[in-house]
Amino acid sequence: MTILETTDLKYTYPDGTLAIEDVSISIEKGKKIALVGPNGSGKSTLFLLLNGTLKPQEGEIIFHGKPLLYEKASLRDVRKSVGIVFQNSDDQIFAPTVYQDVAFGPINLEMPEEEVAAKVNETLEYVGLLELKDKPPHHLSGGQKKKVAIAGVVVMEPEVIILDEPLTSLDPVGADEILDLLNELNQFEKAIVISTHDIDFAYSWADYIYLLVNRKIIGSGTPEEIFRDPGMLKDAGLRIPMVLEIYYEIQKRNMASVNRVPKTVPEIVDTLKPPSLIWLDVPEGVKEGDKLDLGLYAEQLGEICSEGVVDTRVLHIHESGQAIVAVKRIRAGIGRVLIYDTDNYKLKEIKGLLASGDFDVVGAMGKKTKLIVESDNLKPDLTVGVIDKSILTALCGKNVLIFTGGGMVDHAVRRISDYCKKSGVRINVDVFNRETGEAQD
Ligand SMILES: Nc1ncnc2c1ncn2[C@@H]1O[C@H](COP(=O)(O)OP(=O)(O)O)[C@@H](O)[C@H]1O
Ligand SMILES: [Mg+2]
Repeated sequence: MTILETTDLKYTYPDGTLAIEDVSISIEKGKKIALVGPNGSGKSTLFLLLNGTLKPQEGEIIFHGKPLLYEKASLRDVRKSVGIVFQNSDDQIFAPTVYQDVAFGPINLEMPEEEVAAKVNETLEYVGLLELKDKPPHHLSGGQKKKVAIAGVVVMEPEVIILDEPLTSLDPVGADEILDLLNELNQFEKAIVISTHDIDFAYSWADYIYLLVNRKIIGSGTPEEIFRDPGMLKDAGLRIPMVLEIYYEIQKRNMASVNRVPKTVPEIVDTLKPPSLIWLDVPEGVKEGDKLDLGLYAEQLGEICSEGVVDTRVLHIHESGQAIVAVKRIRAGIGRVLIYDTDNYKLKEIKGLLASGDFDVVGAMGKKTKLIVESDNLKPDLTVGVIDKSILTALCGKNVLIFTGGGMVDHAVRRISDYCKKSGVRINVDVFNRETGEAQD
């Protein structure tokens, strides 16, 4: 479903600067959209046009199928549905306390006072700022301020959340946290639109990308489509994403086992053809041409890879005593992933799982889950990029326990199952305590 569309927008600032020309984009429900372009290309201007802050000289903004009229009721509708988080949080946050800042929008909509309080508290809890609610926002860190600005938008329950370069001024941990929050909101069908000049981020994150260069959209499509076109990238002054660069080098060296273009680290790993020759220490007496007994070498091989090897044959023995051994690999020893649904949280049950010794790595996903887990001092190993890291961990033959809740359980199961389907690896995924229905894989 299309929420917002633009047709051939043109905007010139009062001083005569032409900022946007012929810009047509479309924002669909639940999509992750990246607007990629260098500085000065018109990203911020386009965002201000999208929620009616600026009025185009040409073209239209179409909101739920109707052209935006620049009068009070129409602007109010669009601003409730399309929330913008500015690049600089200080341009957005102005109330004396965090609570008051987040309450500003709902109060402006003349919502009853108790309803405002309930909504604001719920939103602050959701973004993990409840303890800071009485603090003056200007005392907070950059990442915390960004969360206040996001909370101020989320509290209005918009359909689209637009963020102008939200990750630029944050440290890596702060950026990962914000991204995690945005991905969680996206799981609940919010369209998220982010402007960025970070190619690696746009490539791995977005469902759809618009390339904005010199005021105009010069390309649009899925990340695969956009980055497949070197000519377009050159025109845009962009380089190719790191994941793709690594993949192309793997391909050139004939080390890629499948012709599937990866987007994430687990997908790069999946494209790798395992080497068929390895160096091994062999005991005296082993001769060239001998077949090796796997049992003897299991420990040594275990350090090299989590996969099993069969048909090992000694090709050459070096004077150092090391040998070149030809191996055929088989996939074995893949770990499992167990998901614990924190909507049905029972500390005793969790302690039992942790004490079982069955899990090598523990992850927590989703803001609310992380808060619960933190307050019970459970200290998860993974808190960002949890799904990808869980897949990588399982590929190394280790078992992972993931805490998550609030609808993210299905998301995690789906992501891991998708990876299995594409790669042919079978990682066992179960949900430990789903309320209804049975565990699935
Ligand atoms: N308030 C303004 N008045 C005049 N020109 C502006 C104003 N804001 C931005 N511009 C100009 O409009 C063009 C697009 O800017 P902007 O939308 O901020 O791009 P981006 O967000 O991609 O960096 C630039 O040439 C910029 O200098
Ligand atoms: Mg900008």
